[in-house]
Amino acid sequence: MAVKYNDTAKTFTLQTSKSMYQMKVDKYGALLHTYFGALAGEQDFFYLIGGREHSFSGQPGDVGDDRDYSLDYYPQEYSAHGNGDFRVKALRAGKKGCVPALDLRYHSHEIYPGKYSLPGLPALFAGEDEGVQTLEITLKDVYEEFYVKLLYGIFEKAGVITRAAVLENRSKDTWEIRRAMSVNLDFLEGNLDIVHLYGKHAGERQMERRPLCHGITEISSNRGTSSHHHSPFVILCEPGASEDFGECYGAALLYSGGFQMQAELDQLDSARLVCGLSEEEFLWTLKPGESFAVPETVLAYTDKGFADLSLCLKRAYHSHLIRSPWKDKKRPVLVNNWEATYFDFNTEKLLDIARQAARLGLDMLVLDDGWFGKRDDDNSGLGDWYVNEKKLGGTLKALVDKVNDMGLKFGIWIEPEMVSEDSDLYRAHPEWALQIPGRIPNRGRNQLALDLSNREVVEYIKDCIDRIMESANIEYVKWDINRCIDNVFSAADPSLSQGAIRHRYVLGLYEVQEHLLTCWPNVLLEGCNGGGGRFDAGMLYYAPQIWCSDNTDAIERLRIHYGTSFGYPMSAVSAHVSVCPNHQNGRVTPFKTRGICAMQGAFGYELDLSSLSEEDKAEAGRQIQVYNENYELFQYGDYYRLTSPFENHSYTAWSYVAEDKSAASLSIVYTDLYANAKPVRIKWKGLLEDALYDVEGEVYSGAALMHGGMVLPQPTCNYDSYMVCIKKK
Ligand code: GLA
Repeated sequence: MAVKYNDTAKTFTLQTSKSMYQMKVDKYGALLHTYFGALAGEQDFFYLIGGREHSFSGQPGDVGDDRDYSLDYYPQEYSAHGNGDFRVKALRAGKKGCVPALDLRYHSHEIYPGKYSLPGLPALFAGEDEGVQTLEITLKDVYEEFYVKLLYGIFEKAGVITRAAVLENRSKDTWEIRRAMSVNLDFLEGNLDIVHLYGKHAGERQMERRPLCHGITEISSNRGTSSHHHSPFVILCEPGASEDFGECYGAALLYSGGFQMQAELDQLDSARLVCGLSEEEFLWTLKPGESFAVPETVLAYTDKGFADLSLCLKRAYHSHLIRSPWKDKKRPVLVNNWEATYFDFNTEKLLDIARQAARLGLDMLVLDDGWFGKRDDDNSGLGDWYVNEKKLGGTLKALVDKVNDMGLKFGIWIEPEMVSEDSDLYRAHPEWALQIPGRIPNRGRNQLALDLSNREVVEYIKDCIDRIMESANIEYVKWDINRCIDNVFSAADPSLSQGAIRHRYVLGLYEVQEHLLTCWPNVLLEGCNGGGGRFDAGMLYYAPQIWCSDNTDAIERLRIHYGTSFGYPMSAVSAHVSVCPNHQNGRVTPFKTRGICAMQGAFGYELDLSSLSEEDKAEAGRQIQVYNENYELFQYGDYYRLTSPFENHSYTAWSYVAEDKSAASLSIVYTDLYANAKPVRIKWKGLLEDALYDVEGEVYSGAALMHGGMVLPQPTCNYDSYMVCIKKK
């Protein structure tokens, strides 16, 4: 049993293959968090807490003169504002018009097979026979009919635990929620480092590691999307933890809008991590009888370092988060026309690219921005989702049929959450755009965001999607959004709290994406937000792959891919070979290196194939062959970071190993050149010690390759690279 309830000790002990998690209902009914770490039997870990009076830490009203008891330093399972705990809290709520205050105590619990679900929100799922269990613990405010249902999904085999919370107003009053987190994770010993992924447009998910310092460390986004700037994923780890050793705790919020993750190191050097919705502008009104679901967080623990943590998340996401049938199908090698043409294309140009793509053995042409409405630059047309027949020289179907006749699939770009002021849609419905009455709206890329909290808008977008999808044989959709959500005011229903609009927007987004996937279940949906601004675990529930960055430079991508790989499967990383000098930074890299780098993820091209040199065409042909021959390795294999581009400035190396260890690849990109250089030796990871592997005709044991390593060829030019695929004999 993954969940054990001990009625005497009042402990809940959750066990997975890798971890154990424990809570205890204490003598006053508070739910304490007593343990999260390696498997450690069924001990009641309350003994570790060691209660004693600490000055300036108050007691809840009903504990009398028990001054050793304070929720300000007891590790709590779900802290709420108002019970004498002054640390960062999971929940702040109160009756409308009153000071927010809650004192939550254990009310009841339930354990059942299978995984709870969160209607309208992304969440890990499991079949009935997969050994997954749910624990629901209901807490109740001491004074009011306000309940919090804590939900736990225990994925024993995958080694992860999910947490969500449902807030229930069973009182006769209206309540207001101002802060809502799904996870509160207390650590008695806060001597921890935090690893997180920061960034910017064209430089997403850079890895940063620093010790937790006293006070609050915050990783968050108030941009309406999970953002380019921070990722809703953090690792807390012991200071000595490395790729291969040490205790690491990973927390990933399944949410694609504004989020907040805070880690506080407190007066007693204990730490608390909370993960949930961004509280900026947040105000959700809960009428009598209503409930509110806080998005899910996935928790993973390992004592074997970052590599094991990343693999644990990758496997859990492959089995229990990514729903698309494309997770089990070979992804098409595609060419996208964006960097090839930008807005300047016509049918002939597209067909030239398609023709060359077919010759080289690609699988799909993706038509990017500029095919609809009046859209020859980025100042107009968004919202008008009807094909520009003048530009395409006919219907979308006519174009798609021609592309299909060449043996290629067809994919299309859309940005349905947005509107240009210069569009028929905006002229007809200015009130559908988010903007504050009486103020000139902030613009991003000269466009406004549609109000996805408005039902009419949601239905309009569904209609547009239906019309596009019905019009031609479209097998892939790249779903983009190209500005931050700002100046949020919804004209739809003035009685609704404006503080609810940001979250309602995200729920509207999930609803329209669900519609697309329900009506066209076989479509390959690729997420995008000006590159990787909405690259989060929530999005993976809808899209099995996400355009990782608008930065297509192979060398900058090394860092972006490296950072991304800590928290996300590399099969989700969409990566393309583009032209040189690179359009984002002007760098020139060998065509071979661009291919090796893009093969880290869902592989494709983003350049004018029809104007490639003969040499590059030959190299592209080789790349496609290598990718196709090894796609199972790249799509399903375990990804190992062998060096860090943040520490090693000479080269970056990584490898893929098939889950059954029968095949593997190792890639290296040299980022600097040296005269009289020492040999480059790299140790493989994840192979079978005793197995023999064929490495380009030579035979080595897995142990030799992992413990001794392998000598790689010296670079012969700037940004040279090398890739080798090996097979078990
Ligand atoms: C965003 C995307 C790009 C491209 C453009 C089109 O920036 O990230 O890949 O689709 O929009 O406008």
